[in-house]
Formats: sequence, structure tokens, C-alpha cells
Amino acid sequence: MTPTSQMPHILDLFRLDGRHALVTGGAQGIGFEIARGLAQAGARVTIADLNPDVGEGAARELDGTFERLNVTDADAVADLARRLPDVDVLVNNAGIVRNAPAEDTPDDDWRAVLSVNLDGVFWCCREFGRTMLARGRGAIVSTASMSGLISNHPQPQAAYNASKAAVIHLTRSLAGEWASRGVRVNAVAPGYTATPLTRRGLETPEWRETWLKETPLGRLAEPREIAPAVLYLASDAASFVTGHTLVVDGGYTVW
Ligand SMILES: NC(=O)c1ccc[n+]([C@@H]2O[C@H](COP(=O)([O-])OP(=O)(O)OC[C@H]3O[C@@H](n4cnc5c(N)ncnc54)[C@H](O)[C@@H]3O)[C@@H](O)[C@H]2O)c1
Repeated sequence: MTPTSQMPHILDLFRLDGRHALVTGGAQGIGFEIARGLAQAGARVTIADLNPDVGEGAARELDGTFERLNVTDADAVADLARRLPDVDVLVNNAGIVRNAPAEDTPDDDWRAVLSVNLDGVFWCCREFGRTMLARGRGAIVSTASMSGLISNHPQPQAAYNASKAAVIHLTRSLAGEWASRGVRVNAVAPGYTATPLTRRGLETPEWRETWLKETPLGRLAEPREIAPAVLYLASDAASFVTGHTLVVDGGYTVW
């Protein structure tokens, strides 16, 4: 048995000093709080987001760097990964939602959602994963959703739910492929969280009422309540965890 004095302190396992973390969709909402959490744990942070107006200020606040990136553009993702070959932690967080009844979903809505939420995650995993594999170490955490495990109601959002279920299974697939080469791949599955993404839902009384009633903890999450789960999976505290989706949903999926 290793004596206690020779073991790393358990809290030190959560530190990310000296590591470079890149968070897609980190300009606001859940992504910004994840970026803030990783920075507080010692990481150098790059926020990669479509929106420079918000993203540049967000990166400045964390003494980090902003990169304008559309995750749906595979060439742009590849170019960024070439320019930043030292990324140790990749957080695939950029995501969008469109609400439409399945039978009336326009092709463009379906494609837009799948292209950001699934293609974008895969392009980033492929490009940043390649450099992580070359260095023999890395941790990837994707923001999936409880919508990948249940189908939400009353709002219709089949494309979103399908995209998040795919992210959960992509996570398992990549974890299996890359485990022996030092790269762990995990996901978090938040429940309803108060961000610009859910603003419209909160303004719709029927949606709001159902969301609160069906969440055992009786409220929405604050974005900062998702960040610790991401930090855990990104850090050495989770050194034996890969292919896992950590649910942070106030109990929504227990009923
Ligand atoms: N808010 C919730 O209730 C909730 C619940 C579960 C999962 N999620 C997931 O969490 C993630 C963050 O959601 P949020 O609520 O913070 O949303 P948000 O709309 O507040 O933030 C999303 C960010 O992603 C960026 N983005 C959008 N498309 C992009 C693209 N193509 N390329 C790069 N950046 C892009 C936006 O500019 C924005 O900064 C998403 O993946 C979302 O699906 C959210």
C-alpha cells in the first residue's frame, strides 16, 4: 500500500495547471462557465465560438484567448487544430436547438441542428483527437444533454434529441478506439439550465411549468452547476473513467 504522504492529495487530482483547454461555444451560457471553471483549476483556456462580440470579452475575463470558429466547418476545425497542437482538454459544447413538430420540420432545421450538434462534435474530436493521440494524452468532454436519454415534452425537438443521443454513443465509440492510446472521451448530460438557449421556453408558461414539475429538484440548473462535472471528467480525478456520460439534470431522468 502506498503511504498517504507519497500519494497526490485528492483535490490536486482536479487541478489542470500547465494544460491547455479549448471550449467550443464558450462565449456564453454553459460553455462560458465551463471555461471559467477550467481556468480556475489552472488551465490556459481558449474559447472557440461563432460569436466574437461576446466571445472576445469572455476570453479576456479569463485571461484566455478567443478563436472565431464555426464548428460545422470541417476545414476551419482542422486549421485550428493544426495551429493549436498542444490542446490537452477539448470541450465540445457548441450547440443549438430548433423546436418544430417532427412532421413539419424543415430540411434546413434538421441539417442545422445535426450539423452543429453532431458533425461539429465529430470534426473537433477527429482533428484535436489526432494531435492528442500523437502526444499520447488528452481528455475530451462533450456537452450532450438529458435529451439524448429521454425525449422532452411538451416542446417538440426531435432533431435536437437525436443529435444528443448520437453524441452519447459517439462518446462511447471514440472512448473504445482511443483508450489504449491515452485519450479519454466522456460527456455530460445537463438537464434544463438557465441560459439564452432556454429563454424562449421559460417565457412559454406551459413549457416552464412542465420543466419545473418534472425536475425533482424543482428548478433549472445555473450554468455554473454543470462546470464541476466537466472539470472532473477533464482532470486526472477521472483517470479511470472513459466512455461515460455524467447526468447533471436535477433528477429529471429518474421519473
Ligand atoms: N441550456 C440547457 O438547458 C441545456 C441542457 C442540456 C444541454 N445543453 C447543451 O449545452 C450546450 C451549451 O448550451 P447553452 O444553453 O449554454 O447555449 P447558448 O445558446 O447559451 O450558448 C451556445 C454557444 O454556442 C455557440 N455556437 C453556436 N453555434 C456554433 C457554431 N456553429 N460554432 C461555434 N460556436 C457555436 C454560440 O455562439 C454560443 O456562444 C449546448 O450543446 C446545448 O445543447 C443545454
